Amino acid sequence: TEYETILVDQRGRVGWITLNRPQALNALNSRVAEEVTAAAVAFDADAGIGAIVVTGSEKAFAAGADIKEMEGMTSADMIGTDHFGAWRDFAAVRTPVIAAVSGYALGGGCELAMMCDIILAGDNAVFGQPEINLGVIPGMGGTQRLIRAVGYYKAAELVLSGRLVKAEEAERIGLVSRVVPASDLLAETTKLADTIASKSLPSVYAAKATLDAAMETPLTEGLEVERAQFAALFDTADQKEGMAAFREKREPDFVHR
Ligand code: HXC
Repeated sequence: TEYETILVDQRGRVGWITLNRPQALNALNSRVAEEVTAAAVAFDADAGIGAIVVTGSEKAFAAGADIKEMEGMTSADMIGTDHFGAWRDFAAVRTPVIAAVSGYALGGGCELAMMCDIILAGDNAVFGQPEINLGVIPGMGGTQRLIRAVGYYKAAELVLSGRLVKAEEAERIGLVSRVVPASDLLAETTKLADTIASKSLPSVYAAKATLDAAMETPLTEGLEVERAQFAALFDTADQKEGMAAFREKREPDFVHR
C-alpha cells in the first residue's frame, strides 16, 4: 500500500507506524487518520503481528489535529464528514498498541496516544489538551480518556486551562506508562513491543479486551468479562504449552493458537 503521511514497516512480530508530516509537526489531518487506521487494521488482521507501535519524530509525536484543515469547517461539515470518525476503527484494533512519544503530544496528538494501550515517553515529551485556546474542546476522545487516565480534577484542570505537562508530571499523574531518556525511547519501545509480541497472541488479545472492558463497565460486569476471557484461554494450545513449560522448567514455545 502507498502511504503519503506515514511510514510503515514490520520488524519481527511488531508493526511500526511512524507519523511523517514533519513540515506540520505531524498534525493529524483526515489523510493521516485514514492511513494510520488502515495500517493498524492491516497489522491487526495479520497473525504474524503481536504488537503495534505508533510513533512520530524527535520533535513531535503529533502537535494536534490539523488546525488549518479544520479552520473553515462548519458544524454541519464536522457531523456530515464524521471528522475524526476513522479513529474509532484505530482504537478498536485487538492488537496491543504502544505509543512512543517524543516531543509534542498535544490536542489530537495526546488523544491519539491515549487511544493506545501503553504510552512510553521520552523525557522530552510534552502532553496537553490546548484546544480551549482555539475556542473549541478536545474532539478525539480527550475529555473522556483523560479523566479515566488521571481522574476528574487533573483532567478538568488541563482541559479547561490548556496547560501543558512535561513527561515527568505526565508520569506522576498517570498519563504515561513510563518515562525513559529520549535517546533510549526507540530502543526501550522495541524491547517492550518485542516482549509483548513474544507472548501467546490469544492471551494478549484476551488481556487487551479485558483491560478495555474495565474502562467501560461496572465492576461486576467487568469481572464477568474477565471470567469468560480467562476460561476461553483453556482451549488454546498455548495454555497447555505455557503451563507445561513452567512444570518442565523451560521457556514456552508459543504457536499463537
Ligand atoms: C496544523 C500545525 C499544527 C496543527 C503545528 N503546525 N501544529 N499545523 N495543525 N495542530 C504547523 C505550524 O503551523 C508550522 O507550519 C509547523 O507546523 C511548525 O510549527 P511551529 O509552530 O512553527 O513550531 P514551534 O514554534 O516549534 O511550536 C510548536 C508548537 C506549536 C508549540 C507545538 O506548533 C503549536 O502550538 N501547535 C498547535 C498545538 C495545538 O493547539 N494543538 C491542538 C490542535 S486542536 P508553518 O507552515 O505555519 O510554518 C486538536 C483537537 C481537535 O488537536 C479537536 C477539536 C476540534
